[in-house]
Amino acid sequence: MRKSSIDAKSLNTTMNIVILAAGQGKRMHSDLPKVLHPLAGRALLAHVLATAHALKPRSICIVYGHGGDAVRQHFEKASQADVDVAWARQEPQLGTGHAVMQAMPLLKDASQTLVLYGDVPLTRVESLQRLLAAAGHGETGGLGILTVDLEDPTGYGRIVRDPAGRLVRIVEQKDATPAERAITEVNTGIMVLPTARLRAWLDKLGNDNAQKEYYLTDVVALAVADGIPVHSAKPDAVWETLGVNSRSQLAELERTFQRNLASQLLEDGVTLADPARIDIRGTLAVGRDCSIDVNCVFEGNVALGDGVSIGPNCVIKNVSIAAGTRIEAFCHLEDAEVGERCRIGPYARLRPAAVLGEDVHIGNFVEVKASRIGDRSKANHLSYVGDATVGKDVNIGAGTITCNYDGANKHRTIIEDEVHIGSDTQLVAPVTIGKGSTTAAGATVYKDVPPGGLVLTKAEQVFKPGWQRPVKKPKK
Ligand code: UD1
Ligand code: CA
Repeated sequence: MRKSSIDAKSLNTTMNIVILAAGQGKRMHSDLPKVLHPLAGRALLAHVLATAHALKPRSICIVYGHGGDAVRQHFEKASQADVDVAWARQEPQLGTGHAVMQAMPLLKDASQTLVLYGDVPLTRVESLQRLLAAAGHGETGGLGILTVDLEDPTGYGRIVRDPAGRLVRIVEQKDATPAERAITEVNTGIMVLPTARLRAWLDKLGNDNAQKEYYLTDVVALAVADGIPVHSAKPDAVWETLGVNSRSQLAELERTFQRNLASQLLEDGVTLADPARIDIRGTLAVGRDCSIDVNCVFEGNVALGDGVSIGPNCVIKNVSIAAGTRIEAFCHLEDAEVGERCRIGPYARLRPAAVLGEDVHIGNFVEVKASRIGDRSKANHLSYVGDATVGKDVNIGAGTITCNYDGANKHRTIIEDEVHIGSDTQLVAPVTIGKGSTTAAGATVYKDVPPGGLVLTKAEQVFKPGWQRPVKKPKK
């Protein structure tokens, strides 16, 4: 792999980036605009925008059209502050050249213009830097085109070179002769152009071609005619240049993306039971010697401390898990914090604002929400702990419920250190159980309990000798 040696900042600060995203995406068969379909949990266009931002351009312009208002709204909500994103509407859509024309009023002539596609999500910044370096910039700068060689180039624009190997034009599949169709080097669509020249070339574009469209690719021949050098560069991998036109291509790129993340995790020293069966939709930070079993989904920002192990089939979203903790199979954790050496699951659910201390055990069918649980405390079976503050060394017996909701408002339950909550206790909030107290099995506790005693709300046990069970009526 050739590493580019140029300083991204000095090279690109005067660059315009235009992202073409007006295409309809008919083959998605969807009401959702194509560029809003998620890949790894983020809109396709969000991936492209992140790449564009990473290049530190002076401006970014998105050409939108089909379903455009939804697209704008999506990104105006989630705008990344440093560079302003401008929007240019293309209506109707008359081709890639016509799309770039819509952006021209927003572009500065003194800067180069890099054209990206909103539906090509995985292009790496390094490959674009290589392209920019190949094109050159300033007085001597020319055109740069990112190309790839494909065994099956069907559908793509072909790169036509002269006998000396100089790039002379691009011909679209539908306009190509059989000889040109045999060319396997194709236009990825990503190119960088000198802006003032581009303006003049776009003025000359016609649509006298098989698709009656204004092709951006036609500027290549115009550049050659003007004596402007045309360069090409290649990315490290073909997948960097693949676009999404169908759900099947989207699924393929999702797998590529996930495979890359899994390889990175393996390289970073994580044990993955199966690198093909992990999905990361966000960022996953890992310590040393973490291990992740099959079919886990990580969303948002997840951080695992040293030696954390995650059992199979867990969904973990915006959670930090400290060193030495084991998450057993089938757990669902969201917006939670887990301390060191905890044991969670199997079948546990941590909901938003669950904060666990060290050596905490949360067992099967236990749900914890908006609660702090102190060091060494345990809730091992079938419990709901919501809106509670649980101290240290507390044991919460099976079937315990914090009755936190009176039908209108939520109330807190406070369980102080060393409390023992008997099985099947109902804690009717607001209520405090004092330090070291015990609640008897089946208690319904609705008044504060002082420290150091036993509370029971026991119904008398009644025995009826010889009692007869009801019997089934005979069928007619
Ligand atoms: C284009 C290139 C072709 C290249 C291929 C790579 C042209 C004429 N052809 O072909 O050489 O091999 O991409 O995938 O440029 N778009 C608009 N407005 C339009 C038309 C397209 O914004 O009026 C956007 C689309 O949303 C898409 C991109 O431009 O993001 C490419 O459009 P698409 O129709 O896929 O181009 P192709 O015909 O496949
Ligand atoms: Ca395409």
